[in-house]
Amino acid sequence: MAESKPKFIKSDSRVAIIGSGLIGRCWAMLFARAGYSVCVYDIDADQVKGALEATLPMLSTMEAKGLLGDGQTSSEVHQRITGCSQLSEAMEGAFHIQECVPENVELKKKVFESLDELASDMVVLASSTSCISPSKFTEKLKHRSQCIVAHPVNPPYYISLVELVPAPWTDPAVIQRTRSLMTEIGQSPVTLKKEANGFILNRLQYALIMEAWRLVEDGICSPEDVDTAMVEGLAPRYSFMGIFEVMHLNAQGVNDYCHRYGANITTVCESQTPARQLSGPTLDTVNQAMEARTPVKELDKRRKWRDERLAALAVHKKEMAGKDIQK
Ligand SMILES: NC(=O)c1ccc[n+]([C@@H]2O[C@H](COP(=O)([O-])OP(=O)(O)OC[C@H]3O[C@@H](n4cnc5c(N)ncnc54)[C@H](O)[C@@H]3O)[C@@H](O)[C@H]2O)c1
Repeated sequence: MAESKPKFIKSDSRVAIIGSGLIGRCWAMLFARAGYSVCVYDIDADQVKGALEATLPMLSTMEAKGLLGDGQTSSEVHQRITGCSQLSEAMEGAFHIQECVPENVELKKKVFESLDELASDMVVLASSTSCISPSKFTEKLKHRSQCIVAHPVNPPYYISLVELVPAPWTDPAVIQRTRSLMTEIGQSPVTLKKEANGFILNRLQYALIMEAWRLVEDGICSPEDVDTAMVEGLAPRYSFMGIFEVMHLNAQGVNDYCHRYGANITTVCESQTPARQLSGPTLDTVNQAMEARTPVKELDKRRKWRDERLAALAVHKKEMAGKDIQK
């Protein structure tokens, strides 16, 4: 795929979403918000119908929060989303395909074989997979150089990160083009230079989960205090600065930080092995604490609260973006 390819004209440009469940619906809204025509396909026609119905109120909420941009209304954005019952119809004229079928490597292989059969040499075939490396389901394809993982974070309209994971055979132009597209639709892409189990986000997240577990298992503190340390200690800075920048500002630059604290950090981390099993009495302790906070039967209510908080943070970050002294 040549890098000098002409830029897409949005009104003529179609995106196809394959699988219209939770994440497929979110992608449909993000692409439509950016002006693209979106065709949503699913093996289950009811899912397509559900996606078309569910996206309108979600877009209305985004409009009310000022997150649709360009003064567009939710119904204008919604009109750009259509459903279709045939894969070939969805892919017709699409320059970007976003696969969103369930997380199962055999299913991804099957779906990508079907996409490969219908793909032109110009289309990008992106998978939303959360943890399957693209080489596991694209190796044998004719168009394997056009395949990439573009992994969003739920809910993507409030959390903008997209992890781009190329297979060893992904064309660099495909990586670049997908990165530009993600930026254009308002997301924040990061690119892995090579495949890695857990990509970036989950490698960081799992390190935190493991240490939280160890703190409770070793009787150092309660599950509630682990969560308070996160929410009231680490998270406020991390919602607008990354790990390395926090280090940079917490001393006279990152060199000074590592000089002052590096040896102690290494000593602490050397004591943080081996990985623990997430089961047994520690699981009972953590479960008891979480049940006391939110009984499982009330999780939906708490999820609504979480999404409200995330929406408020997204609005705040959007407002601050224009005022950021670094921009
Ligand atoms: N849910 C999340 O929080 C989240 C976050 C990031 C990435 N992802 C990834 O996104 C992908 C989709 O996850 P989801 O949560 O939206 O799943 P989901 O179960 O909500 O939706 C999957 C949809 O795919 C459809 N489908 C199944 N087989 C199909 C086929 N052969 N062709 C077309 N459609 C088919 C199903 O009917 C369903 O509508 C997964 O790979 C998942 O790991 C999920």
